[in-house]
Amino acid sequence: MPTTKTTPRPVEVFSQTEDASMPTWPEFEALSPKEKGEHLLTPSGHIQAVIYSQQFNRELLDHLFELAELIRSARYNEQLRLYVKTLLAAKSCALYFTQPSTRTFTSFSLAAQTVGMVTEEIRDPEMSSKYKGESEIDTLLTLAELVDTVIMRQGDRSVIDRFAYEVITRGLPTRILNGGSGSDQHPTQALLELYTLVSHFDLAQTEGTFEVGIVGDLKRSRTARSLSYLLALYPRIKQTFIAPEELQMGDDLTDYLDENSIRWERTEAMDGKLPELDAIYMMRIQDEYGKTSEETRKRYAEYRLSTDRAAMMKPTACILHPLPRRGELPIEIDSDPRAMYWEAVNRGKFIRIALLLHMYGKDDIEKIQARAY
Ligand code: NCD
Repeated sequence: MPTTKTTPRPVEVFSQTEDASMPTWPEFEALSPKEKGEHLLTPSGHIQAVIYSQQFNRELLDHLFELAELIRSARYNEQLRLYVKTLLAAKSCALYFTQPSTRTFTSFSLAAQTVGMVTEEIRDPEMSSKYKGESEIDTLLTLAELVDTVIMRQGDRSVIDRFAYEVITRGLPTRILNGGSGSDQHPTQALLELYTLVSHFDLAQTEGTFEVGIVGDLKRSRTARSLSYLLALYPRIKQTFIAPEELQMGDDLTDYLDENSIRWERTEAMDGKLPELDAIYMMRIQDEYGKTSEETRKRYAEYRLSTDRAAMMKPTACILHPLPRRGELPIEIDSDPRAMYWEAVNRGKFIRIALLLHMYGKDDIEKIQARAY
């Protein structure tokens, strides 16, 4: 029999199978997101799997915002754009999105292509082997064997955890990014909202309160949850959860804020709060995650940011919404200079570029800047 020469895959650098510090799956599952994050790093200390907002710290956020700003400001600098396109040109990426998406999918896809990646996509699970009875983990492990990066959105919050655990224990170098895990988390949406906020306000300052009102279906909004965890890194920020009682923010999140000495408040009264807010984050009703009674729907409709209500807000306030919107944010608000949700869509692509570069250790700002001129 002729022997074929095969090149071993580069497990040496990544292999953690012998690593005693990697817990068993039940142990891993029981860890807090922050603790899990310590196991979700590459051997060089970059994030390998972005699943939770709690994986970020202020230092990393500042770095990502600076990098995103550099690349965003170079929109008209062809030389820099061409250089950025070489940074991950040897890498590939699969977008596995089995829940609906317009912005996150397109933004990630364009971000990956901007840094040179080849992209592939799976959007309809009925057209994949799931139809033949394959588990979602096996579908994802297939992608992990074929591409360097898996960007995913799906309805079951636990799948991404298990997938990341399997990838890391198998010593695979695959990078994983969460584009929405059920009603639990959507960390890159939170990154783009925060990136928009820090571009307009000095959140790092320690003097004075900056009050952010988070309004709507907070119980089932992964965007609200992920943003709340990120805002908790800024002691200046007070978080006010404005919602009908049955849609209020969960205790798990407010307990986390307490543990981190972050000021927060729950209220059902929107009007009384509006004049005090420095930023407002509006949310649509998340009715895909369970039955919403007619009564709740009616109550929710009262949490609408009408032009009259916007007039009650500070002239310096900022209005955000992850989109898509329904009746809670009328199109008339778009022309209000305080409306920043469309700008946030634009910033989303750049913060995702920065994050991809960081995950591959291609995020040296000085080096990139030197190529700008
Ligand atoms: C959000 C999502 O999918 O969670 N949208 C987004 O990613 N921009 C918010 C939503 O669907 O309400």
